[in-house]
Amino acid sequence: MGDGVLYIRPFMSTPKRYYIETYGCQMNVADAELMGGVLRREGHVRVDDPAEAEVVIVNTCAIRDHAEQRVIGRIGQLNRHKLERGGVRLGVAGCVAKELGKELLELAHVDFVIGPDGYRHLPEVLERVDTGERVVLDRFNRSENYEDLEPYRLERGAAWITIMRGCDKFCSYCIVPFTRGREKCRSAAGILEEVRRAVDDGAKEVTLLGQNVNSYCAGEWEFPDLLAAVARVEGLGRVRFTTSHPWDFTQRLVDTIAADPVICRHVHLPVQSGSDRVLAAMRREHTVAWYRERVAMLRESIPDCAISTDVIVGFPGETEDDFQATLELMSEVRYNSAYVFIYSPRPHTPAAALIEDHISHDVAVDRLERLNEIQRGIGARYLLDKVGTIQGVLVQGEARRGEGRMSGWTEQRETVVLDGGPELTGQILPVRVTGLSGITLHGEVVGHATSAVMELPLLAIS
Ligand code: 5AD
Ligand code: SF4
Repeated sequence: MGDGVLYIRPFMSTPKRYYIETYGCQMNVADAELMGGVLRREGHVRVDDPAEAEVVIVNTCAIRDHAEQRVIGRIGQLNRHKLERGGVRLGVAGCVAKELGKELLELAHVDFVIGPDGYRHLPEVLERVDTGERVVLDRFNRSENYEDLEPYRLERGAAWITIMRGCDKFCSYCIVPFTRGREKCRSAAGILEEVRRAVDDGAKEVTLLGQNVNSYCAGEWEFPDLLAAVARVEGLGRVRFTTSHPWDFTQRLVDTIAADPVICRHVHLPVQSGSDRVLAAMRREHTVAWYRERVAMLRESIPDCAISTDVIVGFPGETEDDFQATLELMSEVRYNSAYVFIYSPRPHTPAAALIEDHISHDVAVDRLERLNEIQRGIGARYLLDKVGTIQGVLVQGEARRGEGRMSGWTEQRETVVLDGGPELTGQILPVRVTGLSGITLHGEVVGHATSAVMELPLLAIS
């Protein structure tokens, strides 16, 4: 390349408008931003409406059959839309892409299928699709960590930072090791650099993401080291992380959270079941007593730490007694929020073979409702206790309903609606909580964001 000579990459497809529709967990949201970064670098332009796009990507989730059927229905819908309009390339990314691979080509007239390790190759895939090829790129790549790629972030104020990909735990019900592969950790230096860039671009909060962030290990760095280093990045107001496996949840991690106010006092610690028998069948590698100890460690060192969880009901062989044990654990721990799921048999997983221990759908629904009812009461009490306190709120954007109102979230991730305009977006402000409707807190701004971390009086004031 000489001076003044424009270098044109051979065979680059012409810039297109692209639309990505994302389902599933935050890892997928982060992957959508990664794909956005790859596409933007090649000159493609993001649009919010599939009707305006020349490239439509459905970024899918396979965690439960219901999630999978939903995305397959949506792919069918977008496929009809594509055939009507003409000139549209339709692709499937994410976990269903990995799970079903080339089967998707038969299921709908998709042009490309790209698994979670293939996003770097999106530009070449689009070029090949331009020549009329239908492309499937669903192989795992043990060394793909996307270290050098810059995500195209869609949110202001908060940034997702993927620190590891895949999972080595192989819980007996879970499809993730088969859709996202084995654990791979990014370098601490790369992660810290990404956090610094996100902060330079206006992020006040980052969430460190991985299927099991606590088992992060890269050279000398373990997760507590990384968390402490991220919290020290200048200008960062908050760091949170998700998701945690109780097995890797250590006192050192608890001490790290306790030591730095930048680290959110909110931990998502999935328990899945309150019965030892079921935990063993799930291959969770720990007992209920072990889990209780982790909770005690947290509550002892950080009394105001909110804990949320995931629970599966209707796992094969779950008896009423097993279920009662889960109910008891939930009443005892008093989670600030809990996601309860009905067990769904997934391909490749050992639990899917436990057909004779199948729990009927009616029983599972009944258990789900009973857990949700208990949790609704606990959650409501927890939120009511916040009324009258002052909370730091990261203002995220305009509230869905009501003009002149903004919405944001607290350190414990509760949604707060407050009066104000778009100029508040991306700031962490002290807010007095004045009321609660449903699960939304209402509040008023009572000061300015003076520094990244605010020492807030958390006592109720009348
Ligand atoms: N069926 C139901 N729920 C599941 N989860 C994972 N796999 C399954 C499954 N096969 C739930 C777990 C996990 C959350 C992300 O999804 O509770 O923590
Ligand atoms: Fe769904 Fe799991 Fe894939 Fe996330 S990693 S998109 S939860 S299947």
